[in-house]
Amino acid sequence: MRRIAGFFLTWVAGGALAVESVIPLDDVDIDVFDKQSLRRGAETYANYCQGCHSLKHLRYSRMAHDLKVDEATLEREFLKGQAKPQDSMLSAMHAADGEAWFGVAPPDLSLIARSRPPDWLYSYLRGFYLDASRPTGVDNAFYRQVAMPNVLAGLQGTQRPVVKKGGGVEAIVDLKQMTPGSLSPEEFDAVVADLVNFLVYASEPAQLDRLRIGKYVIVLLIALAVALYRLKKEYWKDIA
Ligand code: HEC
Repeated sequence: MRRIAGFFLTWVAGGALAVESVIPLDDVDIDVFDKQSLRRGAETYANYCQGCHSLKHLRYSRMAHDLKVDEATLEREFLKGQAKPQDSMLSAMHAADGEAWFGVAPPDLSLIARSRPPDWLYSYLRGFYLDASRPTGVDNAFYRQVAMPNVLAGLQGTQRPVVKKGGGVEAIVDLKQMTPGSLSPEEFDAVVADLVNFLVYASEPAQLDRLRIGKYVIVLLIALAVALYRLKKEYWKDIA
């Protein structure tokens, strides 16, 4: 009984901590054939995300081949420490350390774009706002009480929530810029869009081949349909 009461108490207390957010997701355009966008996204990933998150299903060599990253760039921008081209894009951080530091181990992001839609990822990465009650100093409008710090704050600047009260409930309805980052809001949005594009690619590198082959298959099927139609006309010419 006490355990049940305890559960409800923490539940109520937990609920009271964070105001709900009703901000809708922002749309992002994904184009996995835009190699430049994917390369920019991969560099942002290597510089800002790989310190904590791994991409265990993606090898450097595969990424370099798919995104047309030359050897010198791969060496300079991506292969840090002991990493070799045939290695998976792992993080240098151990899961146990991550758990000790953040309370939750930063998850592997190989398949994140399958469990989270691109619009969510785009909104989430732009959705951090200042909250002094959190250990990291920030919370996220799309992932309440998140354990991840706002690693892109230097580029984005800081945001504060716009809270509306009505009918006894409070909700976050918008985020407003507090201090500027090194990028303008438009530039920052473009950086995040490229990053999400890269995560969508990383969640299924074979989709590049699949989509490209798919186009050929459709062209081939149309050509075949035309040929068959002509053949049919030829056969029936004398009968009908
Ligand atoms: C300092 C370590 C750290 C860095 C750097 C970092 N993250 Fe995280 N990230 C975390 C932690 C910890 C979590 C788990 C949050 C939770 O579950 O509360 C997380 C969670 C996430 C999630 C949500 C996963 C889910 O469960 O749905 C996404 C997406 C994500 N990170 C993307 C990124 C991207 C993209 C970058 C680079 C811009 C990045 N992270 C950089 C620590 C980090």
